[in-house]
Amino acid sequence: MNIKSIKSEFPIFRQKTPAGTDLIYLDSASSTQKPQSVIDSITEFYSSHYANTGRASYWPATESTRQVEQVRKNVQQFIGAKSETEVVFTSGTTDSINKLANSIFNSDLWKGRQIIVSEMEHHANLVPWQIEAERHGLNLVAIPLLDSGELDLVAYKELLEKPTALVAITAISNVLGTINDVNKICRLAKAVGAITFVDAAQLAPYAGVNVEYLCCDFLSFSGHKLYGPTGIGVLYGKQDLLNQLPPFAFGGGMITEVDIEGSSFRDSPFRHEAGTLNIAGIIGLGAAIDFVEEVGFETIQSHEDELTIDLLNRLADIEGLKILGEQDRRGPLISFTIDGLHPHDLSTYLNESGICVRAGHHCAQPLMKKYQIPASTRVSFGVYNDMNDVEQFIKALKGAYEFFL
Ligand SMILES: Cc1ncc(COP(=O)(O)O)c(C=O)c1O
Repeated sequence: MNIKSIKSEFPIFRQKTPAGTDLIYLDSASSTQKPQSVIDSITEFYSSHYANTGRASYWPATESTRQVEQVRKNVQQFIGAKSETEVVFTSGTTDSINKLANSIFNSDLWKGRQIIVSEMEHHANLVPWQIEAERHGLNLVAIPLLDSGELDLVAYKELLEKPTALVAITAISNVLGTINDVNKICRLAKAVGAITFVDAAQLAPYAGVNVEYLCCDFLSFSGHKLYGPTGIGVLYGKQDLLNQLPPFAFGGGMITEVDIEGSSFRDSPFRHEAGTLNIAGIIGLGAAIDFVEEVGFETIQSHEDELTIDLLNRLADIEGLKILGEQDRRGPLISFTIDGLHPHDLSTYLNESGICVRAGHHCAQPLMKKYQIPASTRVSFGVYNDMNDVEQFIKALKGAYEFFL
């Protein structure tokens, strides 16, 4: 697949915006557009062999079940897990973290210990841990940020001196773009016996995932940020840990034996997948993984890096514009503020030119508070963006300066 012509794989870019312009989509960190192959896989599933999975012995149920289990194996390979039983389907990263937090801390066993997150977490990787910490008597602490936008790993080591139950960290910040040294963070956590969770929502579409390399116990990502459908995600967990955890939810499909008095439960992954799965979502996720693997992560990364570096260089010359974070290792996104120009005004203005950027706190209010700003503007790239998108963005940004300042 040629990266230069890859935009043509995405039907949304064939149409004009209501403003009559081309669509310049610079919000892939929020959600990516979908290639034709992903859209087709879902249509094909509903049109040709739709049925519920894991229950009936007739065709098309057997075919749907076969395809779902094949996607599970593909996800296993995609993330480098040891077994497909380590792949639990959820509705996304937020869902994975809520379920995991609720299941791990379902008793007061961990009372008095701490949960370590960081100051750059998305609310999805903060609030669920906060709630469980409050419920079960744990302390929640955060690794502080350095001025560079990187995590202070010296402070992290000091935090680890106190009894720690779990470390939950993002691989890439959805605001700063900082790429964290997850391998080091997880190894240090393991050395003190803590469980590790990695939020790979931003990492998966940019660099792929390797759970062995990251050295984590649990990890999650969302299908919709990886060119796949909404409502589907993955929770990876080490097999023994997933089997020890209480089921995330209860109902059909996850039991071995049920009596009126009580029930017994299956092993992972079915243990944690009560009820009918998002089958179409899983099939779409499978097609999305095929898509990114066909393009290749080396190509994706170098293409997106090129766009990010180009944009960084162009923004550096613009007066009154401050980029959040000065780190060397950055994912494909840039957040910034402009003196005297509110991010919401800017994003509304850019929309008139068909340019989609995100303005707001990006579900990372503690990070915004650290920078003492209410909001920022974020540009983020996907595989379909090109230099013309950067060009158009800069042109429109200059127009905004003239209009507002
Ligand atoms: C780093 C990070 N974690 C978690 C999430 C939540 O993902 P979802 O909304 O797919 O559950 C996001 C979404 O923007 C994110 O960027």
